[in-house]
Amino acid sequence: MDQTWVSRDYQRRLNGELSLFERQTGIRVDFLPAPETTTEQLATYRNLLGSGAKVPDVYGIDVIWPGILADNLLDLRSYIPEQEIQAHFPELIAANTLNGRLVALPANLNEGMLFYRVDLLRKYGYRAPPKTWEELEVMARRIQSGERASGNKHFWGFVWEGAPSEALTCNALEWQVSEGGGTILDENGKVTVNNPRTIRAWERAARWVGTISPPGVVLYKEWDAGNMWQAGKAAFLRSWASEYIADRGQTCLIRDRFDIAPLPSGAAGRAATLGGSGFGISRHSLHPREAGMLVRFLSGRDEQVTRCRNTTDAPTLPQLYTDPELLATNPQFPHVLEVFRKGAVSRPTKSAGKMYPDVSRAYWEAVHAVLTQKQTAPQAASELQEELERMLRTPDVRGSADLIEPVRKSGDAGPPRYERVSHGDHGRTVPPQTH
Ligand code: GLC
Repeated sequence: MDQTWVSRDYQRRLNGELSLFERQTGIRVDFLPAPETTTEQLATYRNLLGSGAKVPDVYGIDVIWPGILADNLLDLRSYIPEQEIQAHFPELIAANTLNGRLVALPANLNEGMLFYRVDLLRKYGYRAPPKTWEELEVMARRIQSGERASGNKHFWGFVWEGAPSEALTCNALEWQVSEGGGTILDENGKVTVNNPRTIRAWERAARWVGTISPPGVVLYKEWDAGNMWQAGKAAFLRSWASEYIADRGQTCLIRDRFDIAPLPSGAAGRAATLGGSGFGISRHSLHPREAGMLVRFLSGRDEQVTRCRNTTDAPTLPQLYTDPELLATNPQFPHVLEVFRKGAVSRPTKSAGKMYPDVSRAYWEAVHAVLTQKQTAPQAASELQEELERMLRTPDVRGSADLIEPVRKSGDAGPPRYERVSHGDHGRTVPPQTH
């Protein structure tokens, strides 16, 4: 089961890779589709792994999941030769390692990037993409009003992922880290979210809604923002580096008219949320050896090189970023590498541990309340600070998050309460809430 499955191009390519694997090894692979968003995928995975399901054997693992799923995944060090592990970016191996166990082998590198329309920048007299958020606002406003005046009535300056979802956590983290507002929790697990810089960053984004960004941006997930951008209806897009593949595809109206750059800086510099995924093996698999061969194949050098012969996700092997042949088909790689090297920002998965999904949900709900003007930013930040402190302090909750779920009834004011829940005989699975 693979989280990137939702893309048609990806399915086509992966089917080709799997047939090659089947031919080489005689091992048959059945492919299972995954739901659209990372949160729904995690819910499915937790159900399957928590109930001891024998299949899938191999799971696509988002960079934020190792700490949550580790108990149900095998240590890959028994299946993958050490030098093949060491060929990946050490930061990605570290992100996928929990208590010394490597629970997923990286397969692609992803991070937040700014996509911009080269033709429109030129038309409005700009030589380069915006360096700061202020510049982005000025350029977006000017291009938007110019395009509307020349008949493109539904044109917008800047689209991004504002739906209450993990993607909003990623966007908002970039806004606040670029202002020096911290990463929600610091490395010791201390909640740092209620500070003036974070509040300012959220307030600025709230001002975008309905001015340079469509009012509906607060309901956009990756595909919604990407569709609008690909239809030529926006000057700038915040998305993942992985969006680049679809944007160069035959069906994209602006395939020859865009480029990517680092996201703009705030007072403290630039920030790009680290994303991407790898592959891990279920501890309940009846075929761990064969599953290990598949993981090794999918994340290994040969397949990453083959993928790079077409436009593809950024690889996880530093070596592939200097090969001129691969750079010719993937001119985006140097930009992705530069952003990664200059410090892509990790979500606070290490300090939140198994509580990360709850921390992230509370965070995106707070930010969403600000974007939709249900709360002021100072109010939302202060309530979120308290909610996270309570959530992380509760001794019962920490470390056993999969036994705890937040209880929030509709119409409930204030932060959710946490209650131990019982899940019958299996007792392990708690599907994350869908609000
Ligand atoms: C992308 C990233 C992943 C992130 C997700 C959020 O798929 O690669 O890390 O969690 O977007 O929607």
